[in-house]
Amino acid sequence: MAPVLIDGKKISAQIKEEVKEEVLLLQQRGVAPCLAVIQVGDDPASSIYVRNKRKACEYTGIRFVDYLLPEDTDQRTLLARIQSLNEDASVHGILVQLPLPEGIDEKTVARAILPSKDVDGFHPANAGALFLGEKGFISCTPAGILQLLNRSGIEIEGKECVVLGRSNNVGKPMAALLLQENGTVTITHSRTRNLREVTRRADILVVAVGKPRLVDDTYMKEGAVVIDVGIHRNEDNKLCGDVDFEKVAPKCSAITPVPGGVGPMTVAMLMKNCVKAAEEAAGCR
Ligand code: GUN
Repeated sequence: MAPVLIDGKKISAQIKEEVKEEVLLLQQRGVAPCLAVIQVGDDPASSIYVRNKRKACEYTGIRFVDYLLPEDTDQRTLLARIQSLNEDASVHGILVQLPLPEGIDEKTVARAILPSKDVDGFHPANAGALFLGEKGFISCTPAGILQLLNRSGIEIEGKECVVLGRSNNVGKPMAALLLQENGTVTITHSRTRNLREVTRRADILVVAVGKPRLVDDTYMKEGAVVIDVGIHRNEDNKLCGDVDFEKVAPKCSAITPVPGGVGPMTVAMLMKNCVKAAEEAAGCR
């Protein structure tokens, strides 16, 4: 049977509609939700991501302010900019676009953002809260994947969930979220022995390895749900994921395409986090 294509474009559009309504309600209470984005240097991929965030803000009614700092900006200058945004009560969410130029430490930057404005969920206080099952901001890509599963009617409870990749921003928070949803969770990575034996146990396989089309049908069992976090350009300049879609899709029960799967969800969840930050700042939560 043909697999269900999990439509990230459609589900992200629904979420942005919900955000739009929440923004209107906040505006009626005199609160104008606002996201500040800082980009250091003009890496073309980062510029595209920032443009997408701006467009989503414009669509949902969230005020968007951006700061494009030169490539040779030093860490002190960046931290000072973050500090002034921390102190600016009209700004609810702060995001520093990654990657940062050499010489700027991502961990120091993540710690500089007030946890209550950390809409990326990268501050240790938010990352830790997720692992403890406490309130906080959840990293947008894993939060988006959870929405894709929930809104596609895919149950997590009791399922074998295997996450391929252990990054701080995707793999680890994804595993924590699946665990919170009562999945039986395994994290695999480049040093995992007999990797296929593990991934073939998965009812739900989340692939976030950052390697184009690494995962083919030998990594999965028949009927698994496969979520592809990767986005790359192949030899023909076409977009592809970490999963070899042509080989994997025929054996799945459901799969996210690239593009149009996980990608659009990240920005949608960022919008959700901005509204949440504004609601909390205004005492509506
Ligand atoms: N660069 C690529 N994805 C992201 C993201 O989700 N957040 C930030 N801050 N930078 C990114």
